[in-house]
Amino acid sequence: MEEARRRTLQLLAPLADEQLNRVYSPILSPLAWDLGHIANFEELWLVQTVGDLEPLHGELGRLYDAIENPRAIRNELPILRGAELRAYLEDVRGRTLEVLEEVDLESGEDPLLAGGFVYELLIAHEHQHTETMLQLIQMIDGYEPVESNATPEPNGVVDGPEMVLVDGGLAEIGAGPEGFAYDNERPRHMVELDPFWIDRAPVTNGDYAEFVRETRTDPPMYWEPDGDGWWVRTAMGRCDAVDPAEPVVHVSWHEADAFARWAGKRLPTEQEWEAAARGADVDRANLDQLSFGCARVGAFADAPSDCGALHMLGDVWEWTSSDFLAYPGFQAFPYPEYSEAFFGDTYKVLRGGAWATRRNVARATFRNWDLPQRRQIFAGLRCAKDAN
Ligand SMILES: [Fe+2]
Repeated sequence: MEEARRRTLQLLAPLADEQLNRVYSPILSPLAWDLGHIANFEELWLVQTVGDLEPLHGELGRLYDAIENPRAIRNELPILRGAELRAYLEDVRGRTLEVLEEVDLESGEDPLLAGGFVYELLIAHEHQHTETMLQLIQMIDGYEPVESNATPEPNGVVDGPEMVLVDGGLAEIGAGPEGFAYDNERPRHMVELDPFWIDRAPVTNGDYAEFVRETRTDPPMYWEPDGDGWWVRTAMGRCDAVDPAEPVVHVSWHEADAFARWAGKRLPTEQEWEAAARGADVDRANLDQLSFGCARVGAFADAPSDCGALHMLGDVWEWTSSDFLAYPGFQAFPYPEYSEAFFGDTYKVLRGGAWATRRNVARATFRNWDLPQRRQIFAGLRCAKDAN
């Protein structure tokens, strides 16, 4: 929990209160809202639910309810700001640690506490919000990270087959009963897959630029023409030439789907994606935020998944063709609003995590979901096609 909080505060450290409170985009919360929401989620689950204590600020929690308060109106709410916000984070954390001293994580009687579930939930929640914060941070001119790592360089043969074959048959999908996973990743179940081909690597900027040129479709978010037939992209106020060897990012599901069809292929289903990711090494992937960007295709080429695919984890979330639906036998836990409220044909599933995703969120069974028109997430794609 302390590590997660250190990262949150480190990402926000270069920013003034005015920047935390500013609305940069109607589809992204002001950073001050995210920060208050992180503390409020902790207060709700650990202090109130587990510790059975009264909240510090009465009805404050209503302002931080993500479903009650759409992003576009979050800055108009009387949320905590400045010193008051920071004090709230610290006060909640102090009470959380007091509750932690008292609880029995071993008895297994309370499913919230068994195996420390509620603590894992809290850490995962904070990690996921720092990724959302990075979507906004890259829109802030002149942002300078406190700490950053060089993007991993390609370390293997970049040339290779364009697609790799995944054998058909029964595939195990979803998270097993042990360890932390969200309700929507469970239960683990078998699905019958036909054999299929999947791109060995994510679609690159070079590939996507060709698609844009040929079809006159819009370029990805943050791209501008460089006046010389190529593209530049803006992040944190800096303008750099688009690197043709990096995975394309900030495309919508509709654009990803159109690219796949243009290429004579299709998007993989999420089950196909998960089968292709089997054996991918979460420790050999561009994850965990501090590279502040994608690695060129071929980074960690010596650590492919079992079928030979690269970059299954890290760099960019990958759009799949699948709607966000319940697995057979799904049970909502610990609250229906986490997953169940989003099931249906409105949202599309993304898999694999991006450079901005914390490492322990990027497990191969993790299901992200978003609206098919969304482009602000760190999303790209890879294509698939039937093998027979
Ligand atoms: Fe949240």
